Amino acid sequence: MILSADDRAMLAGEMGPAIQRGMEIIVTLGRIYGADRLVSVGSVQVAGVSYRNLGEAGLEFLREWAAQGARVRVPTTLNPAGMDLRAWREMGIPEPFARKQHETVDVYTSMGIQPTCTCTPYLVGNVPSLGESVAWSESSAVVYANSVLGARTNREGGPSALAAAITGRTAAYGLHTDKARRATHRIRVTCRVKAPWEYAALGYHVGALVGQGIPFFEGLRLPAVSDSMDAKDDNGQRSLDCLKALGAALAASGAVALYHVAGVTPEARMRDDLCAEHVPIATVDTLGPAIEALNGPVDRVDLVVLGCPHASLRELAQVAGGLRGKLIQSDLWVTVSRGVREQAERLGWVNDIEAAGGKVVADGCVVVAPMQELCYKALATNSAKMATYAPSHAGLQVRFGSLEACLRAALSGRWEPN
Ligand code: F3S
Repeated sequence: MILSADDRAMLAGEMGPAIQRGMEIIVTLGRIYGADRLVSVGSVQVAGVSYRNLGEAGLEFLREWAAQGARVRVPTTLNPAGMDLRAWREMGIPEPFARKQHETVDVYTSMGIQPTCTCTPYLVGNVPSLGESVAWSESSAVVYANSVLGARTNREGGPSALAAAITGRTAAYGLHTDKARRATHRIRVTCRVKAPWEYAALGYHVGALVGQGIPFFEGLRLPAVSDSMDAKDDNGQRSLDCLKALGAALAASGAVALYHVAGVTPEARMRDDLCAEHVPIATVDTLGPAIEALNGPVDRVDLVVLGCPHASLRELAQVAGGLRGKLIQSDLWVTVSRGVREQAERLGWVNDIEAAGGKVVADGCVVVAPMQELCYKALATNSAKMATYAPSHAGLQVRFGSLEACLRAALSGRWEPN
């Protein structure tokens, strides 16, 4: 592997032990995966934030690295924690967990990382540009960065992402190369796929089909992703919500890190060599089996979870609109980044949701929260990723369906068909 003079200096410890440790991780990964060089990264998204996943050993690892002088060299954002960092008491989070969770975020912050605590860093300012190399962890964020933004990242783990943040470098293998970004499967979609929850069901179906592959979708009717999709462009924002849901599900039932949509995602619009004639073709003519597989046999719902991946402002507006002036029977959590919550607060939407009895949970994620201690039994969600992980990670039975069905479940405490 060819290393620059700076890379060699970092590896030799000339810039301190913390950077040396980071460079050792990057170079070792590069050698394992056959990289011929390192590249600079424009930003990093670090996972491994919930104390429930890290435990004392993981927290000690971070403390040690920080004590060695670890500081990030590029803009770096943080994945969700196991709770709302401010309103954890209202969630019912036990105090000992909250203390450790705060300490974990404080250690990351001491390294210069922004405590964004979200899986949608691209909604709060960490927006890589087309073709830019980054080092992101969190599967749903990785697939969004690669597919919707056209940036380049492998599925980093927490330590390798942190090492990239501390050195500013990553190994140039896998999805950093043109060749590895070509499609492995052509997916012809002939059934109706319209709302985000239907894109989630499609992603669940196709992720299981392609595993670690790269699907190239044909037949999806969405506007082309463009820079002009600002917050006032409702059709554009709806499209981004659909792509967010699609990617999260592909990365949950499979290990997809990149997908293309003909005429929609940036590389599919720019390159004509993405999908070779000989790749396997599959047709999706119904979402029925996927929807059925994501639904458990449960009628009473005591928690509704929306915002997986973390809700966009548009999604919060929909929830607020559906609950305004009503009272819910089950608990309802809409998980969001702190930045999006603050915008929704100013617009009065947080108040609408809270007045109905719901919570707008910033910073956190149900899958990495200490849910076993909160006594919930069954949740309803419009996220295929949440529906995939909640049974095994949070011990909950699941109902999956549209946003409207989830809001109806919150209002009645019972699941009714979509
Ligand atoms: Fe985000 Fe947690 Fe869902 S990290 S994508 S809210 S499982």
